[in-house]
Amino acid sequence: MKIIKVDTYEEMSFTAAQLIIQKIQEKPNAVIGLATGSTPLGLYKELIQDHHNNGTSYKQIRTVNLDEYLGLPTDDQNSYHTFMKENLFQHIDIPEEQTHIPNGQTEHPEAEGQRYEDLIQGLGGVDLQILGIGHNGHIGFNEPGTSFDSRTKIVELANSTRKANARFFESMQDVPSHAITMGIASIMDSKEIILLASGTSKAEALQQLIMGEVTEDSPASSLKLHDNVIVIADKEALSLVDIEK
Ligand code: F6R
Repeated sequence: MKIIKVDTYEEMSFTAAQLIIQKIQEKPNAVIGLATGSTPLGLYKELIQDHHNNGTSYKQIRTVNLDEYLGLPTDDQNSYHTFMKENLFQHIDIPEEQTHIPNGQTEHPEAEGQRYEDLIQGLGGVDLQILGIGHNGHIGFNEPGTSFDSRTKIVELANSTRKANARFFESMQDVPSHAITMGIASIMDSKEIILLASGTSKAEALQQLIMGEVTEDSPASSLKLHDNVIVIADKEALSLVDIEK
């Protein structure tokens, strides 16, 4: 695991954007795995700005998102479909049919998990996966205790995750209790992974990831078993880890 320590959230976002743009230049039809949440917002802004200023094209890029809430209509303000459209897709030249997000409205959850796995395989697998990290070490919506063998599936969100995400909803009751997420094994199939983290609220999760053991109690620790992972984190997120810049 390579760790890039930066000073600020903006530097984290810029550094990650440069790596993605480089990947697109090398492979214009790359499959990029995307995350939602607050962490990648700056990265998406950088990609949009670069698209406008330098013309990096997404016409052949395919994207697969990690997760979606279960039961929210696709056009709900809090669905990850809406998040991705508003924060990235509508600002770049990617054809909508090349963007993929699990279907949170499915009536056949198991079939949807398999469909999503087949879809990713059909695209040739994920070339570069972007991840955030939960306070409890989750990646995607794989909460502590998730098997490292897990594949795309329906999961119950940890109470702490629902609380952390309640900031986007009117009330805690509105936060969905379940989501559909790529599993740990699905994420680990990615050829390259970039995990982003910013702020002191992520310091314990990064300490556990970097200095702790590999255990299913800490889903992100699975990444230590992958040989092409870059962690880009600011100094607050790395404040409990003893590494030089
Ligand atoms: C989102 C996702 C989650 C988030 C994590 C951190 O698609 O898979 O694992 O990356 O919950 O969220 P933020 O960035 O909001 O702190």
